[in-house]
Amino acid sequence: MKAIVDPDLCIGCGICPDVAPQLFEMGTDDKAHTLMDPIPVEFHALCRDAADQCPQAAIEVND
Ligand code: F3S
Repeated sequence: MKAIVDPDLCIGCGICPDVAPQLFEMGTDDKAHTLMDPIPVEFHALCRDAADQCPQAAIEVND
C-alpha cells in the first residue's frame, strides 16, 4: 500500500498526523508528508482511517 498526499489539496489541518503519527508528519511547507513507503500491512487500516478523515480528501491510498 502507498499513501500519497496531494499538496494542492492539503490545507495543513493536521488531522492525518493526529490520527496516524506513524504514517504522516507535517512538513515545513505546512503540508502533510508520508513517513512510510510502502506502508506495512499492520498500518493499512490506520492509513485508510486517516485518509477517510481528511476533510480535503487529499490522501490517495493505493493498494
Ligand atoms: Fe492535509 Fe488532509 Fe492531512 S488536509 S494535513 S492531508 S488530513
